[in-house]
Amino acid sequence: MAEPRIAVLTSGGDAPGMNAGVRAVVRQTLQLGGEAFGIGHGYEGLLEEEIFPLRVGDVGGLLDHGGTFLGTARSERMFTDAGIGLAASVLEEHQITGLVVIGGDGSFRAAEKLRLHGSRVCGVPATIDNDVGCTDTCIGFDTALNTICDAVSKIRDTASSHERRFVVEVMGRRSGMLALYSGLASGADSVLVPEVPSDMGAVCRAVLRGERRGKKHSIVMVAEGAMSGMRVAEELSKLCGEEVRAVVLGHVQRGGAPSAFDRILAARMGSAAVESLVQGEGGVMVGLRNAAIRTCPLSDGYETPKELPYDLYELTMVLAR
Ligand code: F6P
Repeated sequence: MAEPRIAVLTSGGDAPGMNAGVRAVVRQTLQLGGEAFGIGHGYEGLLEEEIFPLRVGDVGGLLDHGGTFLGTARSERMFTDAGIGLAASVLEEHQITGLVVIGGDGSFRAAEKLRLHGSRVCGVPATIDNDVGCTDTCIGFDTALNTICDAVSKIRDTASSHERRFVVEVMGRRSGMLALYSGLASGADSVLVPEVPSDMGAVCRAVLRGERRGKKHSIVMVAEGAMSGMRVAEELSKLCGEEVRAVVLGHVQRGGAPSAFDRILAARMGSAAVESLVQGEGGVMVGLRNAAIRTCPLSDGYETPKELPYDLYELTMVLAR
């Protein structure tokens, strides 16, 4: 059998732990006797043939670096048949026998189209949104959660000192995972997520209930896809009768050194992706389910929307009382 030539790219929004994933792909490929290649700037780099060999030393010293040293992009061209055809032919010209795509659901949609064009592709889920199906969690989610909890602790110092109410807006256009988990982890009074209709009256009642029992700070977590933090603050100010401040955390949530959990997850997923490609599997993604790594069809990553854990949503509300 010809020696495997495995290429790796990072695509979509960067997520802490992507570098650890690339490192695992490269080193596992070399370990299995293959050649490893990096592709710069996601699918855009593939279309532009930004392909280069990667050796053991090229991925050294990266484990604790946020972002992605390969660069990433959101590629409009991969939404077109021409773009997909070109990407598949570039892979063929460079005799790439397997492509690892580290990214989120949008990146997996393009990967599935590449598979239909005959390319062998494996997806590794990495997005702070944690909205990819087939996996309990995605690379980057744990780090982003810790970043948010750290920020909320700091905001709470001011909230308590001034006995002030705060709304904290976190990322998640279509998913409330970050808002929900960070709300539970930081003892928020209420959480607003895109998956549940927003009831500002209930949020106000939750804030006032906390204050009646002597709470000196109020924190409401809101996912950007539910409502803007600014609007929630304005509406709450009117409803609850006192000024409410809004903090938009923005891109600080995407950066920073990956947590140990994300590094280990990336190591496991990156090497499992290579093993699966080398064994001849294609059109799959790797996922973590009940602490074990498994593979499932790429389309499971984006076709079956990941459900918000409503039991945790209820628990957050119960524990805030
Ligand atoms: O998909 C990750 C994510 O951080 C989302 O939570 C957010 O809505 C989006 O990316 C922001 O993307 P950009 O940095 O391209 O504006």
